[in-house]
Amino acid sequence: MLPPVLQHLALPVIGSPLFIISNPKLVIEQCKAGIVGSMPALNARPASQLDEWLAEITETLAAWDRDHPGRKSAPFAINQIVHKSNDRLEHDLEVCARYKVPLVITSLGARSDLNAAVHAWGGLVLHDVINNAFAHKAVEKGADGLIAVAAGAGGHAGVKSPFALIQEIRAWFDGPLALSGSIATGDAVLAAQAMGADLAYIGSAFIATEEARAADAYKQCIVDCDSDDIVYSNLFTGVHGNYLKPSIRNAGLDPDHLPESDPSKMNFGGDGAKAWKDIWGCGQGIGAVKAVLPAGELVARLKREYDAARGRLGLAD
Ligand SMILES: Cc1cc2nc3c(=O)[nH]c(=O)nc-3n(C[C@H](O)[C@H](O)[C@H](O)COP(=O)(O)O)c2cc1C
Repeated sequence: MLPPVLQHLALPVIGSPLFIISNPKLVIEQCKAGIVGSMPALNARPASQLDEWLAEITETLAAWDRDHPGRKSAPFAINQIVHKSNDRLEHDLEVCARYKVPLVITSLGARSDLNAAVHAWGGLVLHDVINNAFAHKAVEKGADGLIAVAAGAGGHAGVKSPFALIQEIRAWFDGPLALSGSIATGDAVLAAQAMGADLAYIGSAFIATEEARAADAYKQCIVDCDSDDIVYSNLFTGVHGNYLKPSIRNAGLDPDHLPESDPSKMNFGGDGAKAWKDIWGCGQGIGAVKAVLPAGELVARLKREYDAARGRLGLAD
């Protein structure tokens, strides 16, 4: 059973946090369309902008809920990168506390004190993991839910088949579980649920939306490319992730012959941003993305496909 905050979604989907790309406009449209919208706290730059962005999100969604009592917005989530290169973490958490952010997504590190701080204001923590051992650690440290990041996910991704990952985690964890990696259709959202996940976690498909803060060429590249155009490498941040080959060629490198990186150079602030601006993160599911759309229309398409897939399987209400 999902916690109350996640029970009334129009579709069991979290629009996942995207470094540089997610912004209040995208989060607001995702939430209005009835899915969880999210963004990394680090996208607000300078740090003081986070306060303005949270004010914009909470005020706009409160007004929407007043005007649409029968179609209230979904909750939003803020992503915190729990890594030593993130020197804003304490500040950003304090701002989230002020706004009582309903969901916090933590990546890269699990910390008991951070989970306790979120619980103190009534929020829930979802932690993303790439294997079962990290899943155990996250729950031991107090995470309420897990995001299983399988092979083929955009940005930093794992190497596990989603079938293996979900099965192993579900064998012992009955809390909220989202599946991440290459989900870009309503059929795949239903498949994630059939596997044992509660929610689908979708990133790359939302890059090709009008609200996403990405260059037009990046959005078009997602429309034009498919899984053959994705390469898995640790060269750009020190952690393995999936990237669009054309962006690597544009940077003067051969995506099919990339060197290994030096893990000590891992960096998520400052210069780290440059890698993401020029080298475009992307998952393998983008063959399903045929046009740049408003985010609300993308959610509507996912919902139509999801309902049709339920109908085909005789699951329609
Ligand atoms: C360009 C890009 C940036 C990302 N930035 C973040 C981030 O800042 N924090 C995070 O937790 N996950 C980040 N991710 C991972 C996504 O939240 C999510 O796990 C992934 O996009 C899901 O796979 P999909 O892209 O195939 O849908 C990023 C992914 C992409 C493609």
